[in-house]
Amino acid sequence: ASTLHEQAAIPLLAAHEMANASPAAVVARLRAAPYAAQFRDTFGADALDDDARGFQWATLALEMFQQDPQQFYPYSSRFDDFLRGKAPLAANEMRGLALFNDEKKGNCASCHVSEVSANSGAFPAFSDFGFIALGVPRNRALPANRDPAFHDLGLCGPDRTDLSGPENAGLCGAFRTPTLRNVAVRQAFFHNGVMHSLQEVVRFYVTRDLQPQRWYPYPSRKGGAHRRYDDLPAQYAGNVNT
Ligand code: HEC
Repeated sequence: ASTLHEQAAIPLLAAHEMANASPAAVVARLRAAPYAAQFRDTFGADALDDDARGFQWATLALEMFQQDPQQFYPYSSRFDDFLRGKAPLAANEMRGLALFNDEKKGNCASCHVSEVSANSGAFPAFSDFGFIALGVPRNRALPANRDPAFHDLGLCGPDRTDLSGPENAGLCGAFRTPTLRNVAVRQAFFHNGVMHSLQEVVRFYVTRDLQPQRWYPYPSRKGGAHRRYDDLPAQYAGNVNT
């Protein structure tokens, strides 16, 4: 999406995300929402009368919300206070942070930036906003994955269509590094939601290459090659970051 406004509409309508059938269906829900009156106070008494216009207001509200530092990124966590020098971390937290940052250990901060920007003074989003393929295991609970030929390849499609040409094969399997802010309150991790605890995620990072059999199914046939990265067609295995 080229604007936050456009982006706001995508998950509302995507069949595999919030699955509203149409903008009209979203607006019908807004009319029934407990905050419908507040919505009309903000955008006008007729704000929800017309489906197309109502949807415009809703996505505008989301767009503005995401740009509101007070509400959307107040940077008011304990970690932010630590960065401001206002609050200490406990000894075990300091050890975890050191592992997170250490290039020779977790090296997590190389993608999930954890420090205040030296240039701009901006607080870290725990993302460098880069695109990386991690070879996350296939989530067999997803309906789309019942079809063994279906692969969510991130940057190169099928949701995204502008980078699907053969010249972009090196981008297949890459997803944007997500923020880790508030990650402890989430219940599904990675782009396909295959993991459900942070322990599992960290175990994956530590053992993906050492014990791949933990994460990817063994070959079904005796002597068959063990296939890593079971959510990527074999020709893209080389895209995975190691
Ligand atoms: C090379 C860049 C890179 C490094 C290094 C890295 N990550 Fe990630 N991380 C990513 C990307 C990209 C994703 C999303 C991958 C996907 O969904 O397919 C991700 C996803 C995650 C998630 C899931 C977040 C969510 O909301 O779904 C967690 C938690 C996480 N990383 C923690 C860590 C930790 C802890 C380390 C260090 C042990 C680490 N990462 C190292 C790039 C990186």
